[in-house]
Amino acid sequence: MRTAICPGSFDPVTLGHVDIIRRASKLFEKVVVCVVYNANKKSSFLTLEERKEHVERVTADLPNVTVDTWSGLLVDYAARYEDPVVVRGLRAVSDFEYEFMMALTNKKLNPIVETIFLASDERYTYLSSSGVKEIAFFGGDFDQFVPPEIREDLHRKIDGRSQ
Ligand code: PNS
Repeated sequence: MRTAICPGSFDPVTLGHVDIIRRASKLFEKVVVCVVYNANKKSSFLTLEERKEHVERVTADLPNVTVDTWSGLLVDYAARYEDPVVVRGLRAVSDFEYEFMMALTNKKLNPIVETIFLASDERYTYLSSSGVKEIAFFGGDFDQFVPPEIREDLHRKIDGRSQ
């Protein structure tokens, strides 16, 4: 059985992420959302556990989706599964270079790991976790970009930081 792995930082999970996970859950029998520690990102807003819990909450209605955390190479995580397929959303041409580099690097590291891209829904092509964080830090209204189930937690986290 092919397992779809949806990896990402999810700091925080956005409506764009949820759209990709939902669509992957219709295409694959089993989907694992892997909340990955991204060494390229200097500081994180939410802990890995908080992010995992948020993704669990917003995918609770999808019986074939599970959520996990990982610190390390994605291919090493993916190799636990039979025929793993990494699923990534592509928002715009600007994503392509980075995503293509990751897909080819991962394939070189472990040829069993395939990567497929889902075109982002046009409603979310502009949306990113870093954009949401920036809006939040400067006191803007980010509610429309994140799933309703996690909005209150994010507000609490922001309020806690600004005290
Ligand atoms: O949501 P993001 O930050 O765009 O996700 C990027 C992520 C976490 C999927 C990517 O950085 C990753 O796979 N990190 C794990 C480390 C790794 O395998 N690096 C080699 C890939 S070139």
